[in-house]
Amino acid sequence: MLNIKYELTKDLKEKPDFNNLGFGTKFTDHMFIMDYNDGQGWHDPRIVPYQPICLDPSAMVFHYGQEMFEGMKAYKTEDGRVLLFRPDKNIHRTNVTNDRLCIPQIDEDDMFQAINDLIKVEKDWIPTPKGTSLYIRPFIIATDPFLGVRASNSYKFMVILCPVGAYYKEGINPVKIWVETEYVRAVKGGIGFAKTGGNYAASIKAQMKAKERGYSQVLWLDGVERKYVEEVGTMNVFFKINGEVITPSLEGSILAGVTRDSVIELLKTWNIPVSERKLSVEEIYDAAEKGTLEEAFGTGTAAVISPIGELNYDGRVISINDGNIGEVSQRIYDTITGIQTGHVEDPNGWAVE
Ligand code: COI
Repeated sequence: MLNIKYELTKDLKEKPDFNNLGFGTKFTDHMFIMDYNDGQGWHDPRIVPYQPICLDPSAMVFHYGQEMFEGMKAYKTEDGRVLLFRPDKNIHRTNVTNDRLCIPQIDEDDMFQAINDLIKVEKDWIPTPKGTSLYIRPFIIATDPFLGVRASNSYKFMVILCPVGAYYKEGINPVKIWVETEYVRAVKGGIGFAKTGGNYAASIKAQMKAKERGYSQVLWLDGVERKYVEEVGTMNVFFKINGEVITPSLEGSILAGVTRDSVIELLKTWNIPVSERKLSVEEIYDAAEKGTLEEAFGTGTAAVISPIGELNYDGRVISINDGNIGEVSQRIYDTITGIQTGHVEDPNGWAVE
C-alpha cells in the first residue's frame, strides 16, 4: 500500500465546457508522481498540482524512447458513482510493456491505488454528457542523464487526467481507411504488442500519407508479406464476413486491446461466431465482391468503436455497408458504453467502482 503525500492546490483551474470537449487538450488540477531508482525501488508517491516536470536534457527517454503509457477512462453514473472499465487489464498490460522495455515492474495494487486516489481528488472533473469521460494517462519515463544505450536505472511513473469527448472528429460515424502497403507499424519480435511511444512515432508518416489522400487512418498490414491485416490507426480491427466476426490473432506485433478482448467476449455471449485468426486483404476484397463483407470497425479505449465505411487498397476502393454503421458494431458500441456508464447490465463485472 502506498503512503501517498498530498500537496493540493487552492488555485483551481476553471473547468472547460463539458459539452464541447475535444481529446487530450485540457488537464485537471493535480497529477500523481512516483520515482524509481535501483537502491530504493518505487518511492516517494505524491499527488501534486499539475505542472511541468524538470528533467535533464540528457534524460534517456528523450534519446532512446525508453518509456511506456496506458490509456483508461473513468465515468460518473447518474447516481454519482465513479466507474473504471476493466482497470486490472490495463494495469497488468503495464507490466507486460515494462518487461519488453526493460522498465522495472510496478506493483499492480499500488498502480490501482495511485489512479484511484488521484481520481478521488479530481472527481469534479469527470464530465457526464453523452460520449464524454475522464481519460486517464499513466506513463513511465526513463530519467538517467546518460547517452549510452542501456536500461535506465531511474524512472518516473506519473498519472495525468483529462476530460475528453470523441477521439475522432467523426465520432462513431464510419471513416475512410487507406490500406498501407509501404510502411508497417510493427513486426513480430519487435515492440508492437507493447504500449510504448515508439509504435506511435513509427505510425505518423503513414497516417500523414493517408490524410493527404483524403483518408482518416491507415489499415496496417503485416511487416513480412504485406498481406494480412494487423491494426487500424491506433486501434485493433474487426471484419464481419458472412456472419463471422474476424480479428487478427495476437502473434507479437499487435496490441492486446482491452476493448478488443471485451468485443470478443460480448460476441461469444451473443452467440455470434468470432475468430482470432490471420485475415488477408484479398479475403476481405473477395468477400466484398461476393457481397459477404458485412461490417468493419476499429476498437480502442479512446474511441471505443470506430466503424470503417470505405477501404482503398492500391486504388481498389470498396464501400462497407454502404458507408453506414453496421448492426453488430452499433450493438457493441451501445453495450460497452452502457456498461462503462452504468446503464447496461454488467454480468462480467467489468465496471469497477
Ligand atoms: C486508443 O485507441 O485507445 C489508443 O491507444 C489511442 C491513444 C494513442 C490516444
